[in-house]
Amino acid sequence: MLDEVLAGLAATPPRIAPKYFYDARGCELFDAICRLPEYYPTRTELAIMAAHAPAMAAVLGAGCALIEIGCGNSAKSRLLLDALQPLSFVAVDIAAEQLKASCDVLSQAFPQMAIGALRADFEHAVAVPEGMLPERARRVLYFPGSTIGNFTPAAARDFLADWAPLLGRGGCALIGVDLKKDPARLHAAYNDAQGVTAAFNLNLLARFNRELAANFDLAAFRHKANYDGAAGRIEMHLESLRAQTVTVGARHFAFAPGETVLTEISCKYSNDEFCALARAAGYVSAAVWSDMENLFAVHLLRLPD
Ligand code: AVJ
Repeated sequence: MLDEVLAGLAATPPRIAPKYFYDARGCELFDAICRLPEYYPTRTELAIMAAHAPAMAAVLGAGCALIEIGCGNSAKSRLLLDALQPLSFVAVDIAAEQLKASCDVLSQAFPQMAIGALRADFEHAVAVPEGMLPERARRVLYFPGSTIGNFTPAAARDFLADWAPLLGRGGCALIGVDLKKDPARLHAAYNDAQGVTAAFNLNLLARFNRELAANFDLAAFRHKANYDGAAGRIEMHLESLRAQTVTVGARHFAFAPGETVLTEISCKYSNDEFCALARAAGYVSAAVWSDMENLFAVHLLRLPD
């Protein structure tokens, strides 16, 4: 973490990878974000899964090997597992404690299913050990939450293409994608009235103070999130409120007033844009499910046989 944070802060413009949000406090704050009235993605995706998981399971068929990345608190996993009843399930997440808790709950609920847990970040395809994957089962990647929005479109395409060898012929991917919509609605979702998203963003600095012996003054930075319509993405920053120098490890970083550190991008897609991205990664679009307001979509992609 130290090396990556130092490199990110030294870059122009400075940036920090969003995977560092998810320490124990960050996971709590993210769960609180998911319950905010302004943050529509989680409840919308859950409703899509509740309504359509049986249809998804019907397309995927029985006896799948399911791999979920960014499993989090496993609320969505449950809906899919209930409908799909896969042969095996591998949960991948960066947050070790939450991952363990989720797998414990799931193995209680699905005693006959083989469950594997992998703590990993997923900037690239994860090397899932073959021993965790039954032979000849159709492999299905589940990537919910619109976490794919943390990648630029080009990186998302490369990421999906990276998974293709592991998924194999006829392998599938089920991806949660946040849709383009009224910018005001997007702005509200990342600038909530209670300040939970601001606390989530600023928690990065508290984490670095604690774990990297940094000395960020949390009162000297503020949360900033804006929607860039041309790029089709939310950009989240931490903005320096004054001229200041911060020490991280053995390095010193000077910030001018108004200077920002990019902490997250969250790309939004139309269904056509996402289908084109999937095609460029070598997949075929098999089906798309959305809510009535077209806020969110779940794409089912398939690799050719
Ligand atoms: C977990 C990446 C999908 O981009 O909406 C929520 C994270 N950041 N509010 C998103 C997040 C601020 C979230 N993802």
